[in-house]
Amino acid sequence: MNVYDSARMADVLAPLGYEPAGSPEGADMIVLNTCHIREKAAEKVFSELGRLKQFKIAKEADGGRMLIAVAGCVAQAEGREILRRAPQVDVVLGPQTYHRLPEMIAKAMRAAPGAGVLDTDFPPESKFDHLPEEAASQGPAAFLSVQEGCDKFCTFCVVPYTRGAEFSRPVGQVVAEAERLVADGALEITLLGQNVNAYHGQASVEGAEIWGLGRLIRRLAGIDGLKRLRYTTSHPRDMDDDLIETHGAVKELMPYLHLPVQSGSDRVLEAMNRRHTADDYRRIVERLRRARPDLALSSDFIVGFPGETDRDFAETLRLVTETGFAQAYSFKYSPRPGTPAAMAECQVPEAVKAGRLAMLQTLLNEQQAAFNQMSVGKTMSVLLERPGRRSGQLVGRSPHMQAVHVSAPEHLLGRVVDVEIEAGHPNSLAGCLAGDRAAGAIDPGVGAAPDGPFRQAGL
Ligand code: 5AD
Ligand code: SF4
Repeated sequence: MNVYDSARMADVLAPLGYEPAGSPEGADMIVLNTCHIREKAAEKVFSELGRLKQFKIAKEADGGRMLIAVAGCVAQAEGREILRRAPQVDVVLGPQTYHRLPEMIAKAMRAAPGAGVLDTDFPPESKFDHLPEEAASQGPAAFLSVQEGCDKFCTFCVVPYTRGAEFSRPVGQVVAEAERLVADGALEITLLGQNVNAYHGQASVEGAEIWGLGRLIRRLAGIDGLKRLRYTTSHPRDMDDDLIETHGAVKELMPYLHLPVQSGSDRVLEAMNRRHTADDYRRIVERLRRARPDLALSSDFIVGFPGETDRDFAETLRLVTETGFAQAYSFKYSPRPGTPAAMAECQVPEAVKAGRLAMLQTLLNEQQAAFNQMSVGKTMSVLLERPGRRSGQLVGRSPHMQAVHVSAPEHLLGRVVDVEIEAGHPNSLAGCLAGDRAAGAIDPGVGAAPDGPFRQAGL
């Protein structure tokens, strides 16, 4: 989401003459786009601001002027405190106000040095109604924000406080942006939202008809030239029948889903206010796999949530073992100021959290390695996104989101090609173009992806 937001900030700034600089040194403006989800986010921002101050001083010594802006969720959470602790900052703006960046810059230019400009409102108007069209192409794999914010209030999470209430962009706006992205060269679009499957977009300006994410995906899949769709991040509670069926019915929707579960213990899930049980999650996964047998699953886990016992943690390991994840993200619980769980008395000691995280990650890494190994010998369609580190090598994504290093000529960059997978590494795959068909005109759909990988492995 922050990558997408940064690109949109660049769009807002382009008409003012700003363009991306190669380094902070000598830049006219530096925008720090920040994330507040875990760990010492604010401290990291302040230490980075200390480093950037040197560039500002150097530019001023040369008679120039450099603006420093802090954007994103740390800006939203810390607000005026940033201006107080870091007077070198000229502008502080939240994630919902970046369409007003030009006004803020104009104010900051007029303001006396040290008098910062702050805009961390949740304005009643949507920023999406005010953003200019995308100035620069995002390339073959693009992001598109369709939903923002969250009303779920998991007790560990800052998102409802920093990103605000749940909001869905209207269908027409999303379709128009998707069509522009495709016209600009996108073959794959990832739909973004903090709670993307809570999407409920207005189908027309005057009408009361509301579309869910499944219907939106089916509409977008009809865009000529768009080969692949993905979405992230979703919540088990919003995995409705229509969306599950869409996984089976729409070939453009890639067989990969990031579906955070957080814990396998019902006690912990309840304390987290997740409003689903471990068995609810198992049932949803079963239905998804019935609809799309080759679906690769990813998830998020938190270990050491306040009150988590060894037995609770064992339930998480059991859920992982039974479910089988192609990859996953796991974190030690990090108390976030202002959230209910941060106030709980039964905090888990750091050493216990670290031990559990290591154990969980060992299991998840084994599953990921096994999943990658099972890809060896298969032919998969890969969207080649960027040059690799070695010459003669391009890097892309498989339908299952695996990074694939491919020996291929550079003119195939931005194409979908069939790749024979020769090696499976812990975090990536390696392969070569599949025979003569490599030269190009291959159907860029899913190709021959491994089917039911974890079933075969008995995981
Ligand atoms: N501590 C640890 N992990 C967290 N996440 C969100 N808040 C916290 C927190 N306070 C994790 C969740 C979420 C992912 C984006 O970050 O697993 O799904
Ligand atoms: Fe945070 Fe996701 Fe829970 Fe919303 S559903 S509060 S974004 S973890």
